Amino acid sequence: MPLAGLRPQQQQQPIYHQAGLRPQRQQQPIHHQAGLRPQQEQQQQQPIHHQAGLRPQRQQQPIHHQAGLRPQRRSSSPSTIRPGLGPSGRGPPATSAAEIHTPPLGLHDNLEAQKLLDKVRHVARSCKELKEKYNIHNDGLYYLTTTRGILYEAFCDMSTAGGGWTLVLSVHENNLYGKCTLGDRWSSQQGNNPNLPEGDGTWSNKVTFGSPEAATSDDYKNSGYFDITAKDVSVWHVRNNAEMKDWTSMSILRYHTETSFLTSHGGNLYQLFKQYPVRFNVGVCNTNKGPAVPIVYDFGNAVNTANLYGPYSRNEFTPGFITFRVINNEKAPSALCSGVSPTGCNTEHYCVGGGGNFPEGAPLQCGDFAAFGWSGYGTNQGWSASLDMTESALLLFYR
Ligand code: G3P
Ligand code: CA
Ligand code: CA
Ligand code: CA
Repeated sequence: MPLAGLRPQQQQQPIYHQAGLRPQRQQQPIHHQAGLRPQQEQQQQQPIHHQAGLRPQRQQQPIHHQAGLRPQRRSSSPSTIRPGLGPSGRGPPATSAAEIHTPPLGLHDNLEAQKLLDKVRHVARSCKELKEKYNIHNDGLYYLTTTRGILYEAFCDMSTAGGGWTLVLSVHENNLYGKCTLGDRWSSQQGNNPNLPEGDGTWSNKVTFGSPEAATSDDYKNSGYFDITAKDVSVWHVRNNAEMKDWTSMSILRYHTETSFLTSHGGNLYQLFKQYPVRFNVGVCNTNKGPAVPIVYDFGNAVNTANLYGPYSRNEFTPGFITFRVINNEKAPSALCSGVSPTGCNTEHYCVGGGGNFPEGAPLQCGDFAAFGWSGYGTNQGWSASLDMTESALLLFYR
């Protein structure tokens, strides 16, 4: 089988490669594809093998390459051939009983293709840009592109506090009993290990994982995490495995910031965590705490928030904030404390996404939700978070 670009062409036979191509002058071989050159006279009468898998055609038969374009019966005049019409373009083709001419599908008939085209019509760098430039107001999945032109799909919350929020990550605890094991992507999947002080380094690298539709069922991180320049964050705690359409109704807490705090930290968390590394032994409790940013509630309040964590934990934080890069008594870091600002040093019970080494009771405090079950799984007693909190994913948006 000849390779593409090395195909002998048939003299005197027009070739219609694409729907919408105009008729070619008779006697002129047509070479539509880049790199196809007119073939020499000696190649007259050679079969044509345009595509892998296309068998040689009978001599004197025009070749129609695209799906949906069927070979037409030979005519004295190779004029325009339109889907569903005869070679003259004016009426039905003369059809023998052996030939069935089904009108080929145009793009307008392909609903899935049309939906895709509609979606890529408004590609932007963030949901905020989609809203502001293209006046898009519906929540849902949209295509975004990075500064390097990487296309990815992200969920946009176009409703909360004016909308324009891009979901960039989720932190999901798949196994509270697994301590820095499989699924603890925001801490370490390689065990509690002082030799891996930054764990998997996920907060400060460009590795992406998961998918927006599975953001409540597994960890998720998209390119927006490091690509979007944002001012504020919004956080939703949504019950594990909730369908995207139910995220709002199945959330136990939703809030956002309004201080533009990211602007002074590089415009996103990727940059913020360069300033405040999520690394074991990088500082001491409270002294080296990252920013604690006041929050505005979209669902829930300060009392609800405090009660999502254990009673001992409530004694050492102030609700109404989101706090970044905290350090506990044993110098183990956590990336963020959702809804609270710690005043004490047992942050492993109410902050998420740590580094790779939690020394206290090692390895019992390592993982995405570190020591949320210290006083029993979901008991909401002692240091343990509530079952609602334990079994909800943390979804974080930028705007
Ligand atoms: O993080 C809690 C730990 O430091 C003390 O635990 O069980 O002695 O209250 P416990
Ligand atoms: Ca775990
Ligand atoms: Ca996880
Ligand atoms: Ca402790």
